[in-house]
Amino acid sequence: MTIASESRLAQLKQKMETRDARIGIIGMGYVGLPLALLFSGERFRVTGFDISADKVDTLNAGGSYIVRIERADIQRAQKAGFHATTDYSEIAGMDAVIICVPTPLDEHHQPDLSYVEETVKSVAPHVRDGQLIALESTTYPGTTEEIVAPLLESGNRSGLKIARGAEESGIHLIFSPEREDPGNDSVARHDIPKVIGGCGAVAAQVAAAMYGSIFRRVIPVSGPSAAEMTKLLENIYRCVNIALVNELKQLCMRMGIDIHEVIEAAKTKPFGFQAFYPGPGLGGHCIPIDPFYLSWKAREFDFQTRFIELAGEINSAMPYFVIEQIAGALNDRVKSLKGSKVLVLGLAYKKDIDDLRESPSLTIIELLREKGAVVAYNDPYFPTVGHGRHYDLNMTSTPLADLGSYDAVIVVTDHSSYDYRSIVEQAQLVVDTRNATKGIDSPKIVRC
Ligand SMILES: NC(=O)c1ccc[n+]([C@@H]2O[C@H](COP(=O)([O-])OP(=O)(O)OC[C@H]3O[C@@H](n4cnc5c(N)ncnc54)[C@H](O)[C@@H]3O)[C@@H](O)[C@H]2O)c1
Repeated sequence: MTIASESRLAQLKQKMETRDARIGIIGMGYVGLPLALLFSGERFRVTGFDISADKVDTLNAGGSYIVRIERADIQRAQKAGFHATTDYSEIAGMDAVIICVPTPLDEHHQPDLSYVEETVKSVAPHVRDGQLIALESTTYPGTTEEIVAPLLESGNRSGLKIARGAEESGIHLIFSPEREDPGNDSVARHDIPKVIGGCGAVAAQVAAAMYGSIFRRVIPVSGPSAAEMTKLLENIYRCVNIALVNELKQLCMRMGIDIHEVIEAAKTKPFGFQAFYPGPGLGGHCIPIDPFYLSWKAREFDFQTRFIELAGEINSAMPYFVIEQIAGALNDRVKSLKGSKVLVLGLAYKKDIDDLRESPSLTIIELLREKGAVVAYNDPYFPTVGHGRHYDLNMTSTPLADLGSYDAVIVVTDHSSYDYRSIVEQAQLVVDTRNATKGIDSPKIVRC
């Protein structure tokens, strides 16, 4: 590296350290908005970009649309210079741009990178020499190099190239996975180490200076593909282990063993075991989706990811298993599922959050309706539910009253605000898919 390049790198790093760098975050969703607040809390001037004019207007009016983010948090950020916009021309004024847009699967269960592609196409005409571009959306190894880099190079007006090796001019491109666990307050966000894979050495160092200002530890890896794969390994590890306990739960039920008692005992081993818990099926934007990004990419290499396929098979069968258990429990009470009044507790994909993406509750409600049950739901986070890519419910949350009038109450999401003892007291039958009634002894409870 030349002396001039060292000083340029030093300048970029210094801008991060002195908080003079301007940070643009694209995608003001569950990932991007909290990240914007973190940077703002560290005295950076942050601009939030989104295609949703509603979200932008809400933020600029000092409001919030995510339950765990208070209006006061947004207003504090505004005082520190935060604003939101739909106008991509503001990209030119940013020193760093972080992309946090969705990466779902399409109807054929294949990666849908259209949000990432559209975003990069919108960013490219405004990129500047020396700007840092970071992709945080979860995706398969190769996306940053094969999709993002060419779009940035072909779409910018100045003929800028991605800076590689120790080059200090050009576009500094990195991948850094988001590793947040919504609703998990046991680890502060700044204590989650930040993995960084840069296309070039300067990109990695500038990114380390930027993320190092809000995360206590940064973990540089050799390049974007290693960083992309790191995130997938983490999520596949979860997905496979959840499938394992979901399968073992079914075996334990046949054998008359309580899987939760077994997990609690196994968890006391101080090494070599991490506890995962069975449930009604996978949910959320990550665990049910991300593994299939890798199995899709693996096919390009004539490789079959058998663990992922098997885990997917077991986990996606869980809502059907729950329906069988409900039908069996009603049968024992000389009732049929058809015509029974059923109350589903919880729509969110996990407890205490306002996110229902891929939630097993949605599948369970649809299956119950298909079987002729009369279904109601309650969820303090969702007063209503309409329709989405994979469901069409159009329902309103029922108050938690008159529980004895239902033939069965099904705990699908174990929100902390529910009083399970009182629910069991009032209900005729409680089918508990989350071990939420642990410690309550009643013949009315069927745990599955
Ligand atoms: N939610 C999580 O817990 C979590 C955790 C780790 C990783 N991730 C990953 O982070 C990424 C984002 O997830 P999320 O949960 O924040 O999604 P989200 O749907 O909550 O937010 C995405 C935002 O991007 C906006 N958007 C879409 N296209 C855009 C465009 N072209 N320009 C500007 N804005 C655009 C949407 O309007 C939305 O506000 C995904 O890849 C996801 O897999 C999510």
